[in-house]
Amino acid sequence: MDYETLQNHYTRFLSSRVADRKLRAFWSGALPAHVTPHPDPIELAAGMPNEGLFPIESLHVNVVDEPFAHEQYAVRARQLHRDGGGRGEEFDSRAFVQDRLERGSLVDVWRYDPDRPAALSGAVAYQYAESRGQPQLLEFCRRIVQRINPPAYDQWDVTLAHGSSDSLFKVFETFCDAGVTVLAEEFTFTPTVSNIVAAGGTVVPVKVNVTQDAESQGIDVEFLADLLDNWASSRYAHLSKPRLLYTIPTGQNPTGTTLSQAKRRQIYDLANKHDFLIVEDDPYGYLKLPAFDRADPHHNAYASDELSVDDYCDKVLSKSFITIDTVGRVLRLETFSKLFLPGVRISFIVANKFLIDRIVDFADVSVRAPNGIAQAVLVNVIHHWGTKYHDDLQGWLHWVMKVASQYTHRRNVLFQALYSTDAYKKGLFTLTEPSAGMFLTLKPSFEKSDKFPLSERERALDVFNYKLLEEGVKVVLGTKMIVCRELSLDRSFFLRITFAYAADDLQLQEAASRISRAVERLFDEY
Ligand SMILES: Cc1ncc(COP(=O)(O)O)c(C=O)c1O
Repeated sequence: MDYETLQNHYTRFLSSRVADRKLRAFWSGALPAHVTPHPDPIELAAGMPNEGLFPIESLHVNVVDEPFAHEQYAVRARQLHRDGGGRGEEFDSRAFVQDRLERGSLVDVWRYDPDRPAALSGAVAYQYAESRGQPQLLEFCRRIVQRINPPAYDQWDVTLAHGSSDSLFKVFETFCDAGVTVLAEEFTFTPTVSNIVAAGGTVVPVKVNVTQDAESQGIDVEFLADLLDNWASSRYAHLSKPRLLYTIPTGQNPTGTTLSQAKRRQIYDLANKHDFLIVEDDPYGYLKLPAFDRADPHHNAYASDELSVDDYCDKVLSKSFITIDTVGRVLRLETFSKLFLPGVRISFIVANKFLIDRIVDFADVSVRAPNGIAQAVLVNVIHHWGTKYHDDLQGWLHWVMKVASQYTHRRNVLFQALYSTDAYKKGLFTLTEPSAGMFLTLKPSFEKSDKFPLSERERALDVFNYKLLEEGVKVVLGTKMIVCRELSLDRSFFLRITFAYAADDLQLQEAASRISRAVERLFDEY
C-alpha cells in the first residue's frame, strides 16, 4: 500500500471543507531548474524572532519518580500509601522540594543543549515550529505505537494535537459534513457528540452491554452487524450509511467497559465490509486494572512487582484496533492528560499518512503546534526518567505503570468499601468492576421494589442524585451521557462513579458509606 492508494481510497471520506483548508504559504515555492540556491542563505524571510530575544534562559522542573511522593511530607497522606504518610503535620512544600533538589530530581531545559540531542532545547521549543510537533516528541510517540500497538501496515504516522478534545475536534472537522452519519456507543463522552453535530454530522447510537462479563461487555456486535446489514430497512434508512464509528474501547467513559479482542476483530471486519473508519479514543487504555479479588481485596499486581514492563506491554494492555488494521481505516487517539498532566494539553493521533496529513493541514491553518513550553517539559521529563532506565520509553512506561498501580489501589479500596456497605448487603445496588480506566457503574436495584416501575425510574434516579448530594457525594448520571433517549433511556439508570479524584483511602471509604445511606434513603423514602 503506497500513499497514492491511500489518497485514492480515503479522499471520499473527507469533509467538503478539507480541500479549502490548505495553508497559503507565502514564504516558499518551487524554483525553476536553472536556479541553484546558495547552500547557506541568510534568513531575511521568516517573521520569527531571533531566539536571543526570548526572555527565558532556562526552565528547571522538579519531578518526582513516584505519584504521591510529596505526601510523605503531607498531612493529607493518611492511608493512601500504606507504607507512608505522616499525620497531623502541614505539608512542608519547601522542605520537600529542597530535599528533592538535593537528590537530583531537577529536569533542566536550556536555551541551547548541544550535548543532549534527545533533549529539546529552549531555542527550538519556544520558536515557531512544525504544526505536527517537535521531532523528538513525534519520534517518542512513534516508538510508543511501535512497541505497544504496531499497526498492521507500514504507511502510518502520528501528529500531535492539543489534548484528545482537540484531536476529536480536528478528526470530526476532517470527516463530517451535513449528511454524514457517525456511529457511537449509546452512552458516550458527550462533547464528541457536540463536535459531530457542529460539523453537520448525525450520531447514531450503537447498543452496548454494561455487564461484568469480559467477553460480552461493550458494543453489542450483533446489534451493530444487524444495523449495518439492514440499514435500508432500519429506523435510520433516511440517513446515509455510516462513514465513521467513534468508540472508547478500553475503560469506556461512562460505562467502564473494555471491548474484548474478539469483538475488536469482529467490529473491524464490519468496518471493512461496510467501509467505515474507526475512531478509537483511548485516554484510559494504559490504566489497566488487574481483576478485583474479593478474597484479597488489596492485591495489586503492580505494587507487588509481579509485572515487568514487557508483561505490561504484551500481556496486560488491550491491543488497539490499529494492530489489526491492514488498510489504514483506524484513527487512534492517545493523550498525555491522564498519564502526565491534563494541563500539558498534548495528545497524538495515529493513522495512515494521508489522513494524518489532512489533520496537519487543519492545524496549519488553525492552532498550529501544541505549546512549545509544554512540549519541552514533556520531552525533557520523559528523557530524565529515561536516564534511570534503559531508555526513554522504559522510563516512561515505568512511570505509567506507577500511575496504573495507583488507580488499581483506589479501585480496590472503593470496591471493598462498597461491597461492605449495608445497602450492598441488602441487594439495593449492583456494581460493574472495570478492568481499565477510572470509571465504574453503580445501578440501584429498582426492580426490587414496586415503587419503581420503569416509567418511574428516570425521576427516581434524579431523586437518588439529590439524596447523594444531601449525603455529600457527587456523581454523574447515566441519563446524562445518552446519545439518543428513545433508544437508551431504559438502560441508562446507573451512576458513573470515578475513583480518580478523591483525596485518599479515607475519602473513598467515606464516599461508600454516604452512597449506602443515600441508597437506603431512596428505597425507604421514595
Ligand atoms: C473519552 C474521552 N475522550 C477525550 C477526553 C479528553 O481528553 P484530553 O484531556 O486529552 O483533551 C476525555 C477526558 O475526560 C475522555 O474521557
